[in-house]
Amino acid sequence: MKLFALLSAVALALSATVSAQNTTCSTLADRHIINLAQAEQAIAAAQAQAASIRVSASIAVTDPSGFLVAFRRNDNARLLSVDVSQRKARTVSLFAGAFTTQVLFNLTQPGAALYGITETNGGLVALGGGVPIFRDGFFIGAIGVSGGTSDQDVVIANAGVQAVGSVRA
Ligand SMILES: *[C@@H]1O[C@H](CO)[C@@H](O)[C@H](O)[C@H]1NC(C)=O
Ligand SMILES: *[C@@H]1O[C@H](CO)[C@@H](O)[C@H](O)[C@H]1NC(C)=O
Repeated sequence: MKLFALLSAVALALSATVSAQNTTCSTLADRHIINLAQAEQAIAAAQAQAASIRVSASIAVTDPSGFLVAFRRNDNARLLSVDVSQRKARTVSLFAGAFTTQVLFNLTQPGAALYGITETNGGLVALGGGVPIFRDGFFIGAIGVSGGTSDQDVVIANAGVQAVGSVRA
């Protein structure tokens, strides 16, 4: 019983310490990470572009570490586009925005410098439609689009990027 009381007191002290800490420390903007409002703005702009060229797409936005921030699957988007769009965005993030997935397509062909890299990290996708999002010169996240042809996906993704930043630093 005494031991239980002691453990309870320790647990209480620990939780008080933890709750007293300010775990925010800095904002997403301080850390140059896309926030939800920006991700949703990018998706809305990409969606407007997709609708204007009559493509039903899945659209994903990841943070600079490749974690999903926001996602939209349109009615009638091909089911494989759910996974492919997210992988395109994640692929760009894991390269820290150094390449679009369209540029990676050439770089990952047999004999090219990055051949085989798409087999790593649980499967990367090097088809057009993954584009980095830069803001104030920093890589803040990536957008991945799947549903149309590679060229259509690129156009849709670029529209999304331009709503919140730029495709280059
Ligand atoms: C936590 O720290 C951030 C950055 O210094 C500050 O903006 C915020 O107000 C703090 N929040 C609390 C609850 O103290
Ligand atoms: C990929 O390679 C082809 C053939 O060499 C070239 O025409 C095309 O411009 C390249 N695409 C990119 C995005 O670099």
